[in-house]
Amino acid sequence: MSATHLAARYHRAGDVHAERVERREPRAGEVEIAPLFTGICGTDLHIAAGHMDARVSTPAVIGHETVGTVSALGEGVSGWSVGDLVTVVPLRPDSTCATCRNGFSHVCDHLDFLGIDSPGALAEHWVVPEHTLVRVPDGTDPRDAALLEPTSVAVHDVRRSRLQAGEFAAVVGGGPVGLLIALVARRTGAEVVLSEPDPTRRDLAAKLGLEVVDPVTQDLSALTRERTGGAGAAVAFEVSGSAPGLTAAIGALAVRGRLCLVGIHAAPREIDLHPFFWRELELLGARLYERGDVEEAVRLVAAGELPVADLVSHVLPLSRVDEAFAALAEGGAVKVLVDCRPEGRA
Ligand SMILES: NC(=O)c1ccc[n+]([C@@H]2O[C@H](COP(=O)([O-])OP(=O)(O)OC[C@H]3O[C@@H](n4cnc5c(N)ncnc54)[C@H](O)[C@@H]3O)[C@@H](O)[C@H]2O)c1
Ligand SMILES: [Zn+2]
Repeated sequence: MSATHLAARYHRAGDVHAERVERREPRAGEVEIAPLFTGICGTDLHIAAGHMDARVSTPAVIGHETVGTVSALGEGVSGWSVGDLVTVVPLRPDSTCATCRNGFSHVCDHLDFLGIDSPGALAEHWVVPEHTLVRVPDGTDPRDAALLEPTSVAVHDVRRSRLQAGEFAAVVGGGPVGLLIALVARRTGAEVVLSEPDPTRRDLAAKLGLEVVDPVTQDLSALTRERTGGAGAAVAFEVSGSAPGLTAAIGALAVRGRLCLVGIHAAPREIDLHPFFWRELELLGARLYERGDVEEAVRLVAAGELPVADLVSHVLPLSRVDEAFAALAEGGAVKVLVDCRPEGRA
């Protein structure tokens, strides 16, 4: 194999670019995959903006939302063949801490998140532990499969919320994650309304057949009550990461409603806890996904039950990864995919 390959590396705030870097062989228990498409997510943008310098050691190959084919096997790996279509659960727990022992290894106390804490998938090759692979059925469109990681987030969140068919759900925030939650919630048989201030994202939601409101000009709480005989939503997903979004989500809930907190609130929020007492509300945190969520996401996407590829606004080759980050930073983009196949062979 050639000693170098093309990869996108983060160097310093505002500088992610493609360059040839050293390639390494898979060791025992590891598998090398050749990513087809790798998505860029909000966390990658935070890394690129320099917000995560305390955690990310530079230069860092980043990216963790990928679909690819197995390209080489380390010693002792069985059950996989070169060419298999796979996605990667980018989590390496220590398997020994109290959290892991209690069955919650997806939020391990010492979680190694591949693509943040160790090298990632914005590259022509990616070496990962065998246990992270999940098979994707042949014939699945790789552009759909590139959205399996955020779809797994959505599957996990809907499961955490205990949303049932026939219930009403409000989704606050129509970025890629909020849109995917809305699609998975609808697929569960719930009635869904999505709140999003950005007109491009609202148009996309409407195209996906979702009912959508503008939080700047419309009252989510009033609409939710109107649609539920005055009761309010059984579940509200907070997926904006904003203080006004959090307040709106709480305000939309019915008595005994469940607030599923997906958005990352990096700063403490001042929230009114009175409704939690008065209306017996529940607050449920939701982080990442468990393997079963990823397998369910694969099943839904492979069966074509979620129009995930409709979220893709841009596809750019790995050599132009800097433009992919710029498109997201500028706004107007939804999901940006990077085509990681060596150019000329694509
Ligand atoms: N829990 C997890 O494991 C997990 C995983 C992935 C992402 N996240 C978090 O989920 C959130 C959403 O991720 P994303 O990639 O879709 O991000 P995003 O930034 O693309 O989407 C957030 C959306 O919320 C909208 N918004 C802002 N204020 C609003 C308001 N008051 N009401 C309604 N909408 C509002 C924005 O216009 C934007 O479209 C982020 O906070 C992200 O960090 C959490
Ligand atoms: Zn652990």
